[in-house]
Amino acid sequence: MDKDINVGIFGLGTVGCGVVKILQDNADVIKKRLGFGINIKKVFSHTSKCKNLLSNYTYAKNYKELLDDDIDIVLELIGGTDVARKFVLEAIEHKKHIVSANKALLANHGFEIFSKATQNGVKIGFEASVAGGVPIIKVITRDLMANNIKSIKAIVNGTCNYILSQMFETHESFENILNKAIKEGYAERDPSFDIDGIDSAQKMAILAAISFNAKVEEKDVYVEGIRDIDFIDIDFASQLGYRVKLLGIASMNENKLLVRVAPYFIESDNVLAKVDGVYNAISVISDMTGQTTYVGKGAGSLPTASSVVADIIDIANDIQSGQVKSALQTGIFDNVEFVDVDNLESHYYIRFSVVDSVGVLGNIALVLSKYNISIKSVVQIGKGSDVVPLLVLTHKAKEANIKKAIKEIEKDHQNIIKNGTVLIRVLD
Ligand SMILES: NC(=O)c1ccc[n+]([C@@H]2O[C@H](COP(=O)([O-])OP(=O)(O)OC[C@H]3O[C@@H](n4cnc5c(N)ncnc54)[C@H](OP(=O)(O)O)[C@@H]3O)[C@@H](O)[C@H]2O)c1
Repeated sequence: MDKDINVGIFGLGTVGCGVVKILQDNADVIKKRLGFGINIKKVFSHTSKCKNLLSNYTYAKNYKELLDDDIDIVLELIGGTDVARKFVLEAIEHKKHIVSANKALLANHGFEIFSKATQNGVKIGFEASVAGGVPIIKVITRDLMANNIKSIKAIVNGTCNYILSQMFETHESFENILNKAIKEGYAERDPSFDIDGIDSAQKMAILAAISFNAKVEEKDVYVEGIRDIDFIDIDFASQLGYRVKLLGIASMNENKLLVRVAPYFIESDNVLAKVDGVYNAISVISDMTGQTTYVGKGAGSLPTASSVVADIIDIANDIQSGQVKSALQTGIFDNVEFVDVDNLESHYYIRFSVVDSVGVLGNIALVLSKYNISIKSVVQIGKGSDVVPLLVLTHKAKEANIKKAIKEIEKDHQNIIKNGTVLIRVLD
């Protein structure tokens, strides 16, 4: 029988404690399947969410103790980018294999980390960094390896998907549902990381990089969040046969890459429209396989930890076979040109807040037509109050023109247009 593999865990929070539970509770089945055991040798964390679970491991005094000779794989499960980056780079220098669930770290310092890992002959497992318990990283880097990936469309933030699904079901306002989500633990007390699309952008940077072998970082992702979505938008979408979802899109066209996160109207019979609540879903379109879609829990202690343990097992098997090969050779990542989103064309939904008076629609239609934007349908809601929503669905138009038209309408017609205008793209 092969020797047991030793791991050190840095960070005993939600994910770290899930890993402890899985390695402890399922130790027998893991050992039976692998032919050797996975031991937790040392742990280090400011605070621990699982003191009651921990039995016979050593609590290190600092993270450097996790770099001892008898540890094969270290888990970075603290989050953030400063200490996590320092630790990971140091661990690689000590020839430790790494497993991390940290999307912020990989979306911002991934190429530095992979480059160092390649130089030092160690492996980085990062399955849990995107879509928690859904094994999408292995699907893209291994199972679809024979394909050219054309595009990815994904719901990768459970908090936003929960909020939008709840608004659709209960007809309540964004604020009410967000507060409910915070109370129920589906959203952080400071939810901006999720609702402003940053979390999705980090995950899409990672997915785009591995799907298109391209140097993509968080800064390359065009991001809009869901803060301004109102029930009116969701209701209008639903009347026209659409659902509103925060989508991550990565696609390659004529050697130019688009990576974008934004709310979209998507047709209700699209598989992604049917994924509700905290679930994540990733549709991959590739040249040989066509469309495949992966759905599951994108967060939570045990689903995420299950992905971390899967990475540990992969690396452990490599160690036993004596053939550890970096998961990703950094040479495969090319510099890439990004699409100028202003040149893209789409159907658009625009919500204007207008003064309820005669001639408003005429004024708006005039500016839209000046920019070659034709209206497909229009609805004005709630006559009677001073300011009412005017909802417009356009035919295909150029994004630059839509933005210019809205700017002009807001600037030149301040007497009839109030507040911020909301723009949502319709997914082709
Ligand atoms: N939670 C999820 O469902 C989920 C899903 C997918 C990916 N992830 C990723 O997994 C990683 C961990 O997330 P988590 O939810 O488990 O976080 P968490 O619950 O906040 O746990 C992090 C743990 O690390 C400790 N820690 C942080 N900085 C430290 C430092 N410098 N020195 C020592 N200990 C430190 C924290 O202690 P203190 O609290 O005392 O600082 C805490 O115990 C993050 O990168 C996250 O993005 C999480």
